[in-house]
Amino acid sequence: MKTPLIAPSLLAANFLEIGKEVEMVNNSEADWLHLDVMDGRFVPNISFGLPVISQISKIAKKVCDVHLMIEEPEKYAEAFQKAGAQILTVHIEACVHLHRNLQQIRSLGMKAGIAVNPHTSIGLLENVIRDADVVLLMSVNPGFGGQHFIEQTYAKIRALRALIDQTGSSALIEIDGGVTLDNARSILDAGADVLVAGNTVFASKDPIATIKALKQ
Ligand code: DX5
Ligand code: ZN
Repeated sequence: MKTPLIAPSLLAANFLEIGKEVEMVNNSEADWLHLDVMDGRFVPNISFGLPVISQISKIAKKVCDVHLMIEEPEKYAEAFQKAGAQILTVHIEACVHLHRNLQQIRSLGMKAGIAVNPHTSIGLLENVIRDADVVLLMSVNPGFGGQHFIEQTYAKIRALRALIDQTGSSALIEIDGGVTLDNARSILDAGADVLVAGNTVFASKDPIATIKALKQ
């Protein structure tokens, strides 16, 4: 079984100690640093944005994985690239011209990700899967950390794995929401490559050990 990539989600961090939290991730076995941007329109919550990410990216030693939960993400792709995003993920539900948006992200030198809400069918990815480097399956409804993993996600991971294998795509499958030490194994067995973890990491007594445990 291959080793998963781990992406701690800073949404669950202590924002009064954000530099220390990033240092903790730097010193851990994490692979990516997951940064959730919310606009209060695409999702019913507002998190943080460009000025925060540009400072974080300067001290982060992990890949900056930016998850845009915003409308009209194409307006901000260049700004997020300048702020240090290395992977930029947009929601299929927020993009009228998803193919164009993915090309825009790649042309800016970033990896392009497609995020998919729980209700959205994997079949809708058929014509864009080769244009994505990452597919992020939401395993909770986006907007908040600390929710319960939606069980239907397992079937979606298997369907996406089949689509990737059929098409020869090299996209990674990233799972976001409600990932715990208890369900990580089943998620990986279903075919996931990357685990996002917010509360599981930052609310644990020993976040570095928790990241290590998720990786095993
Ligand atoms: C939710 C965000 C997630 C969130 C996950 O909309 O996209 O990245 O931080 O948090 P946990 O792991 O606590 O469910
Ligand atoms: Zn996220």
